[in-house]
Amino acid sequence: MSNNIIVAIDGYSSCGKSTLAKALAKKLHYIYVDSGAMYRAVALYFLRNNIDMSDHAQIEEALKNIHLNFHSRDYETHITLNDEEVSEEIRQMPVSEKVSEVAALKEVRREMVKQQQRMGKSKNIVMDGRDIGTAVFPHASLKLFMTADPSVRAQRRYDEIHLKNPEVTLEDIFENIAHRDYQDTTRAESPLVRAEDAVILDNTNLTPEQQLQFALERIEALK
Ligand code: DC
Repeated sequence: MSNNIIVAIDGYSSCGKSTLAKALAKKLHYIYVDSGAMYRAVALYFLRNNIDMSDHAQIEEALKNIHLNFHSRDYETHITLNDEEVSEEIRQMPVSEKVSEVAALKEVRREMVKQQQRMGKSKNIVMDGRDIGTAVFPHASLKLFMTADPSVRAQRRYDEIHLKNPEVTLEDIFENIAHRDYQDTTRAESPLVRAEDAVILDNTNLTPEQQLQFALERIEALK
């Protein structure tokens, strides 16, 4: 049995999971994996190839043709879809609007979970997502469940993207977040739920530094 450290960070959309996960990985020299980027890249492929999501055979076939790879530079997520860098494109609204539907498909989840578990086999890793502490790594060394007030989350996301996408309004983002929360928590396959042994981190009023400190103290306590 391997004794690498696995930190699982789950929670709602735009809660700062990836900010914390990246900061932790950087501080501790762990591998960082943004599992949401994988679902986003699959959604991009489905969009581009007009995959019929009610056709199981088509979904299985599509998954066989999707090859995802992470290239870590400065702990930022760089992901390729069949050797094409898609890190920017997967953050755009068309993908954001499609991804929850794609992430609800059991064939897609089965394949992503398998790939994610492989990544956590032997290295110290921080992975963020929705089902990391429940389905991907139920025996993770530390599980954090992040939450924050939805309007605070929408504002943060807006601040992040409005320079690049000036046409997107705060209302659009709020609606997209509410929609994704609903989809993520009500889907049949691995819905977003807090693992019983996850520590809740409500960061509505916390700075990124305070969140990092919170997590570091808990990792330190594992030793
Ligand atoms: O974290 P994010 O917003 O990039 O995630 C994109 C979508 O993928 C979101 O709708 C939830 C879904 N997702 C998931 O179902 N399971 C994960 N482990 C990660 C993301």
